[in-house]
Amino acid sequence: AALVQPATDLAGTTVLITAGPTTSPIDAVRYITNHSTGRMGAAMAEEALRRGASVRYVLGMDKGVVRPVPPRDSASRFTLVEVQTAEEMAQAALGFLPQVNGVIATAAVLDYRVATPSTNKLKRASEAVALDMVPSVDVLGALKDAATSQWFLGFAAETDNVEANGRKKLEGKKLDFLFANPVARSGETSATGFSVPTNGGTLFRAGGEALALPVMNKTELAKRLWDLIA
Ligand code: CTP
Ligand code: CA
Repeated sequence: AALVQPATDLAGTTVLITAGPTTSPIDAVRYITNHSTGRMGAAMAEEALRRGASVRYVLGMDKGVVRPVPPRDSASRFTLVEVQTAEEMAQAALGFLPQVNGVIATAAVLDYRVATPSTNKLKRASEAVALDMVPSVDVLGALKDAATSQWFLGFAAETDNVEANGRKKLEGKKLDFLFANPVARSGETSATGFSVPTNGGTLFRAGGEALALPVMNKTELAKRLWDLIA
């Protein structure tokens, strides 16, 4: 039987991918996180490996988060580091930056962290409590500041004004590409965004036309995105 030739158009390219949620501890037993499952990052990594690229993968770990499964014969080109906080993610990602040609930021990084997590378990009380939070590190921003010649693809999940927010984020963050997708409002469901196997949205390109990509499997979307950025 004829063998299907693997596409190797990304051979010689090394890409850094951030994925999954980050977490911020509240006390010894509690933490803050979000609904990210890491599926979009895993799909981007698996497609890159299939096409011959090397992948440096920084994954925010939480319950239910998925790791990429390197396709046949690609495991030696795949490096995975698991982190929890945004600060750990930034440190690991910055360490990989000099080795890579491009960065794909799929991670859903917490914008705030608990200022001083308690080392013991906080006790229940009857009065209201307030949690002191401070901005967490901007992982993508730190990578951009340290970049030499790398290209950048960011992701944005928006409940409102997806198109306007997407274009604004591409320009504000000075990215080469930004993929923006709608995400369900609380209490609603959506075929795009967190916790679903499908996604669809708009790819914005610096100095170029926006391109609408319909809802499809995240694996299929990863192929389309790589075709467009390759
Ligand atoms: N990002 C990051 N570190 C952060 C926040 C965001 O690396 N602390 C990255 C994400 O991985 C994504 C891109 O920046 O690729 C856009 O994230 P998003 O949360 O949409 O952007 P924000 O500027 O945080 O805007 P918002 O107020 O909508 O959350
Ligand atoms: Ca954010």
